[in-house]
Amino acid sequence: MDLAALFPGRRALFFPTVGSTNDLARELASRGAPEGTLVVADEQTAGRGRLGRRWLAPAGTSILLSVLYRPAWTTSEAFRLTMACSLGTAEAVKAITGLEARIKWPNDILVNGKKVGGILAELGWEGERLSYAVVGLGLNVNWDVTTCPEIARTATSLSIEAKKPIDRQGLLKAIVEAVDRCYALCLSGKSEELRGDWERHLDTLNKIVTIETEAGRVQGQALGVDAEGALLVRDGQGQAQRITVGDVVVSSGL
Ligand code: BTN
Repeated sequence: MDLAALFPGRRALFFPTVGSTNDLARELASRGAPEGTLVVADEQTAGRGRLGRRWLAPAGTSILLSVLYRPAWTTSEAFRLTMACSLGTAEAVKAITGLEARIKWPNDILVNGKKVGGILAELGWEGERLSYAVVGLGLNVNWDVTTCPEIARTATSLSIEAKKPIDRQGLLKAIVEAVDRCYALCLSGKSEELRGDWERHLDTLNKIVTIETEAGRVQGQALGVDAEGALLVRDGQGQAQRITVGDVVVSSGL
């Protein structure tokens, strides 16, 4: 893939095969690579998901990318990057395929209720401040996921939902541009606008959810997300709970 033509003026590296684009971007970060460095691969041999899971994608079927950021933020502001990446991806999916993409807190991208993509943000910090952040996106584009028993029940791809093959390169360009726009909102002091847009794309909102957290199981109604991206849930006792890490299972709509 000719990334120089697709993203003129940007440090952008393409690999037919790589271990993990996130690992490579972190290595580049430690060697001083600049803000906005983009790593794209056709295939990963050690793709990683959240919570230590694997990320599976046959060669040439998906969008597998990582972007390196160096914002002058504290670590508590870093969730904005996940917001920018998932919202930008949802907007680009809509623009290129016409499909309505929704976001499942904290980092999944859904189409028609099934997972089509995920974000993995990894941070390097010095004290309270970020020294870098790498945000990785895996998106199932032209892939019959029903042939992969591990994910067949819960996942989908854009080609399955659109019932036609998708222009992967056009989508990649649209995603990177849309994510850049969302990130620029934060840099210009409009992160509240980003949070509001992100919340409107959130599939989890107003639903009864169960979340497995390190401190135990929380069940209740998802009310919204705060500025740091934490999910706000009213539990069965009417108490507000603030969830920062966990896996959400949606039980019902309201
Ligand atoms: C998740 O849903 O758990 C997050 C998945 C993130 C996968 C992407 S693929 C590109 C980048 N490189 C990786 O190793 N992981 C992310």
